[in-house]
Amino acid sequence: MIKVGILTSGGDCQGLNPAIRGLGKALYDTFGKEVKIYGIRDGYRGLINGEYDIMKKSAFSGILTMGGTILGTSRQPFKEMKVIGDDGIDKVRAMKKTYDEIGLDCLVILGGNGTHKTANLLSEEGLNVVTLPKTIDNDLWGTDITFGFYSALDVATEVIDRLHTTATSHGRIFVVEIMGHKAGWLNLYAGLAGGADIILIPEIPYSIDKITEVIDNRTKEGKLFSIVAVAEGAISLEESKMSKKEFKAARAAMTYPSIAYRIADDIAKITEHDVRVAIPGHIQRGGEPSAYDRVLSTMFGTKAAELIKNEKYGYMVGMKNGEVVPVPLSVVAGRLKCVPLDNQVIASARNIGISFGD
Ligand code: F6P
Repeated sequence: MIKVGILTSGGDCQGLNPAIRGLGKALYDTFGKEVKIYGIRDGYRGLINGEYDIMKKSAFSGILTMGGTILGTSRQPFKEMKVIGDDGIDKVRAMKKTYDEIGLDCLVILGGNGTHKTANLLSEEGLNVVTLPKTIDNDLWGTDITFGFYSALDVATEVIDRLHTTATSHGRIFVVEIMGHKAGWLNLYAGLAGGADIILIPEIPYSIDKITEVIDNRTKEGKLFSIVAVAEGAISLEESKMSKKEFKAARAAMTYPSIAYRIADDIAKITEHDVRVAIPGHIQRGGEPSAYDRVLSTMFGTKAAELIKNEKYGYMVGMKNGEVVPVPLSVVAGRLKCVPLDNQVIASARNIGISFGD
């Protein structure tokens, strides 16, 4: 009998359920009656508190098109994992205890960056771990693509499309804020797909003078509206020169609810156009996975089952040059995949006149 635990951790995204389905079905297909699967509730929290359910074969049916995660999830910051809090719980010990009590042979963890740091820690602690890369941010090191990204891209693109029509009718400037704090993949792709005029990503600090210059030039050409697509983590040129500490203090003192409002206000000071802000927020992570994400998640889930069959632990399943491959967790953990400045999508966008505010 082989015992496999599954947990989903961190922010949810589209594709988690198809990945769980792919893994579960492939495990039952591979091991038949010789496998027992345990669904750990609400991410690492369930592992810490020993909360889980046995997942029969039927648990993996009917979830292909479902958004969110049937297992529930939670954010358990990595930096707090080794810290014993007021509750006196040693979280790492508690997780190992649950693993041992169930008698797991392997734990499959679906998550993003923070999740992978903890997964690597558990692997270093001797647990058999296999992970799958999920996040709408597509910022996980070691894989060309994460599931969730293309579904969120469809949503974000539709948002920009819809803003386009109303912006055109009124001759307004729309500042639309797209998710992505550390990496600008989603905003870059959505901005290009939605025909934004200006795309601001964390990797390319912006100058507000440049942004207003672009808007002014458009006005002179008779284009009375503009779409500014801003990543949540966009930073100004001035901010890019600050130390981490100075930046944190500056942002803490910022009176705007988010960066899009600050940029909108800065633009409004120097233009006669109406300026509006639109923030789709978690809508980008909600709803059903796209066809692409269903395929990708299923491939990742089934590959995880193959790794378990071969007792190949300590790996994340990733996509490299079109191939689904195992990537050592030690290589993935703690590294961020930001948009490289020589990225071809950036080059293409620049070629058609899109400004990055630089
Ligand atoms: O990591 C995915 C993500 O959606 C980011 O794009 C976003 O910055 C963050 O999660 C939002 O976190 P939360 O769901 O905790 O508000």
